[in-house]
Amino acid sequence: MLTPQQLADYERDGFLVLPDLVDAETCDVLVARAADLIQGWDPASLSVFTTDEQTRTTDEYFLASGGDVRFFVESEAVASDGSLTVPKEAAVNKIGHALHDLDPVFADVSHSDWVAALLADVGMDSPLLLQSMFISKGPRIGGEVGEHDDATFLWTDPVTVTGIWLALQDATVDNGCLWAVPGGHKWAGPARRFVRTSDSTTDFVDLGKPQPPHPAEAVPLEAKAGTVVLLHGLLPHRSSANRSDAPRAAYTLHAIDASADYPDDSWLLRPDDLPLRAVLG
Ligand code: FE2
Repeated sequence: MLTPQQLADYERDGFLVLPDLVDAETCDVLVARAADLIQGWDPASLSVFTTDEQTRTTDEYFLASGGDVRFFVESEAVASDGSLTVPKEAAVNKIGHALHDLDPVFADVSHSDWVAALLADVGMDSPLLLQSMFISKGPRIGGEVGEHDDATFLWTDPVTVTGIWLALQDATVDNGCLWAVPGGHKWAGPARRFVRTSDSTTDFVDLGKPQPPHPAEAVPLEAKAGTVVLLHGLLPHRSSANRSDAPRAAYTLHAIDASADYPDDSWLLRPDDLPLRAVLG
């Protein structure tokens, strides 16, 4: 699917922008499906907790999301009593993390030939789809995502995680497109990894690899709807807040290779009755 030049660019930069890979109708179908899922979601579960209980409950909800379809909201959209300050359609910033296996509409796009072809092209022998997210950066409320690499959060030994980021709406500098550091995947690798320490607590484990200073500046990866951005698991990337009037929805998939060790203390665990699946199969 990828040309030798595209593969060389991915190797050099740690990312690859592929315009027009997915048709507009598919993008619209996924945006509409996410809107339906949000319509069916009752945000009452967010409300009425003390601060400590809120933190514990929020972490439990997050830690059990690896095998479920769950809803996360912008922090700006939650009042001190846990109620939403804006309609739920505007408040939700993420739906995850097993859409690709549990929702038939998202599964159809996720378990598809082009996903399999891209992952094979970048050298994955037996990719498993670990995680999926519908990400909404709503007009004027969409928050920033700080610089990180995905291997910190989806760790395998050796590192194999690869991201597929699909723009469902045009992503620009103004509405919070991705930014990435070209070549940053060739640094020392993550200094730490994010783990679960119980069913309701998380922590970072030091990997003994201090991060070197940044050798390069991040560049914006503007992307029209239907563009796919491939992201190496060690590549530092981020996205800015959306203070514009334009929505910015995206769908991301993360794959790991079955040959690598996926630790039992990973934050994202799947229930026994929902094993990880190959892209096609
Ligand atoms: Fe990421």
